[in-house]
Amino acid sequence: MASAASTGSTPVYAPAACNWNLESAFFPGQFAWGASTAAYQIEGGWDADGKGPNVWDTFTHQGGDRVFKNQTGDVACGSYTLWEEDLKCIKQLGLTHYRFSLSWSRLLPDGTTGFINQKGVDYYNKVIDSLLANDVTPVVTLYHFDLPQHLEDQGGWKSDSTVEAFDAYAQFCFQTFGDRVKLWITINEPYVVAVLGYEEGTMAPGVTEPGTGAYLAAHKMIKAHAAAWHSYDRLFRKQQGGLVSIALNSDWAEPFEPNSLADQEAAKRHIAFCLDWFATPIFVDGDYPAIMKSKISAMCKKQGLTSSRLPEFTQEEKKTIKGTADFFSLNYYTTRKIKHQDNAHSQPSVSADMEAEQVTDPSWPVATGSSWLAVVPWGLRQLLKYIKDTYNHPVIYITENGFSQSDPAPLDDTQRWEYFRLTLQEILKAIYIDGVHLKGYFVWSLLDNFEWSCGYSSRFGLFHVDYENSALPRVPYRSAIEYAKVIANNRLI
Ligand code: BGC
Repeated sequence: MASAASTGSTPVYAPAACNWNLESAFFPGQFAWGASTAAYQIEGGWDADGKGPNVWDTFTHQGGDRVFKNQTGDVACGSYTLWEEDLKCIKQLGLTHYRFSLSWSRLLPDGTTGFINQKGVDYYNKVIDSLLANDVTPVVTLYHFDLPQHLEDQGGWKSDSTVEAFDAYAQFCFQTFGDRVKLWITINEPYVVAVLGYEEGTMAPGVTEPGTGAYLAAHKMIKAHAAAWHSYDRLFRKQQGGLVSIALNSDWAEPFEPNSLADQEAAKRHIAFCLDWFATPIFVDGDYPAIMKSKISAMCKKQGLTSSRLPEFTQEEKKTIKGTADFFSLNYYTTRKIKHQDNAHSQPSVSADMEAEQVTDPSWPVATGSSWLAVVPWGLRQLLKYIKDTYNHPVIYITENGFSQSDPAPLDDTQRWEYFRLTLQEILKAIYIDGVHLKGYFVWSLLDNFEWSCGYSSRFGLFHVDYENSALPRVPYRSAIEYAKVIANNRLI
């Protein structure tokens, strides 16, 4: 039996434990149904109307086969000029929310508030105003991987000057758009920027400093996030009444041998070195997870170092960082099985420090467009429960979740819709069985787009983009049609 409660116009059916048909349960009233994009991945117009270069412009223009076929985001989906086409897609889906990012260097060409590019401001005003005119709530990410090149030239995320520049940029955005934008995300996936951008160098800015670069970049990003949150709190919250968070990505991790204590501990470390690295300081106590501090320090001792490679926050900084998120923004794609690995003699790196080897269960299907994306919808439910239990039952938004197809991708993407359907079922379980306070779900992505080092070979969109046609037409995949039905009904059938 289902018991009905009501929030707004949509009935909420909080099902009793027995006899519950998951397939027909409603999502909570006012559930945010969204899709996400990021500026560099869709906009194109890389040097249009006074935009300054960012690290992805530089990285892709340098070539060197770090991106599939040396492709670039110079044109991408052309959203800078084709915004109205994106809006049509959003309306066709019936989204209640749309998450997109601002291109920092389109607004502030050298990353500082010394010069403001009015054309950039006009563009985002147009996007925000037309979303609101269509009853779609904008969710705005300030920074999604595309640091202005000028700031990178001064040390990028390894430098305090970028922390200051980010705070000034955030204040500028709150001031300029905050009368209409009420949901803000400061930084998208600091883990990815730190590890792939400043340690492994497979993403922009392509820095390879194993064992130190990622820890330093992460340290500065946490400080930058906290500074921006405080600026909002101090200068804008009262008048604008919005919420600010940071988007954190994480896999779920299962021990390879469920009964092995070593594998159980390694699985915990896998999450500690990804999600908790950022969530513990921000949501708990202003400091890194104990398990991370002790592990890195022990590895450093073995390596003959006299101090840890993990930087420390001062007491003052800890106080400033603690409590700087108004909701939990989670990006989830996949799950890994984790084995303990003895790395005492490896070269320093984040993954060596973790002493946890990732294994993909061969029985899990893998998305055709991304070899790393094993399809494990139940992992999301486990991760949501972990966040609820570890981070004091926060309001959570899943700000990214998706499945890629390889190119060419069939419009009838049945396997992909099955991924979404199973994922949405797990979400219902998380909400109604586990009591997770989940307020929204955003598909990555609205459109096929520039998938970083995979270029255009990996298609995550609900809408297909034909890159061969200069008009860049958008056509819905079957997943888009099915997702629109779910949104309209607020349930799976
Ligand atoms: C990022 C997106 C990316 C997606 C799929 C996330 O890590 O935020 O920019 O396209 O994953 O790889």
